[in-house]
Amino acid sequence: MKYIVGNWKSNQNLTQSFLWLDDLIALKPKITPDKKVILCLPFTDIATFNQKLNESGLPIEVAAQNVSHMAPGKHTGEINAQMLSELVSYCIVGHHERRADFAETSDVVATKASFLLENSITPIICLDKPYLDQQIKSLFTQGVEVSKCIFVYEPASAIGTGNSIDPKDANHVAHQISFLTDYLSPVLYGGSVSPDNIKSYMDEPNISGVLVGTDSLNPTLFADIINAT
Ligand code: 13P
Repeated sequence: MKYIVGNWKSNQNLTQSFLWLDDLIALKPKITPDKKVILCLPFTDIATFNQKLNESGLPIEVAAQNVSHMAPGKHTGEINAQMLSELVSYCIVGHHERRADFAETSDVVATKASFLLENSITPIICLDKPYLDQQIKSLFTQGVEVSKCIFVYEPASAIGTGNSIDPKDANHVAHQISFLTDYLSPVLYGGSVSPDNIKSYMDEPNISGVLVGTDSLNPTLFADIINAT
């Protein structure tokens, strides 16, 4: 199975998301059964976008980009895993931007992953070199079943810069992540993935897919990435 995961980050209101979907439907991307296409949307788009997606018949799954590290209760503004469980089967945690901009620690990321798994949602856990070992250690310490997670190697230098890293280097780190997680989970690469470089990552033996930011916002480029996989 090859994973193509789009991450819209804090972009696209519902109106814009509908226009995006109309364009993607018209492009007829080739989503064969060996490809799993997942779109991580802002919370505000998830439910309504999913209805429209189901009507279209496109085999794409919607997902979330974040989840609360707290159980249901008195936590104003928080969206917890139980709420998400009626809407999505996947959720990103530990993205570099959340670690950098919201001071999320590896322990908090592991707690989020635990809540997601308790609610039958697969965590898509983003990792980078400075916290690779520490992050994976936190997962084991908190009893997270790593075999039920998807991992992504996302080097900070490649995120949103156009400076994708050498596929061989990405493959090397992906292997390191597989080794540390007992070879039980898919490992993806993220960072300036485009239609031009997608194949070079997919050809690497330890990389099972990609996490795409900027180019997932453009339906033509996202369709090209799906078709080139
Ligand atoms: P870019 O594809 O824009 O580099 O973003 C990568 C990313 O952060 C996906 O989560």
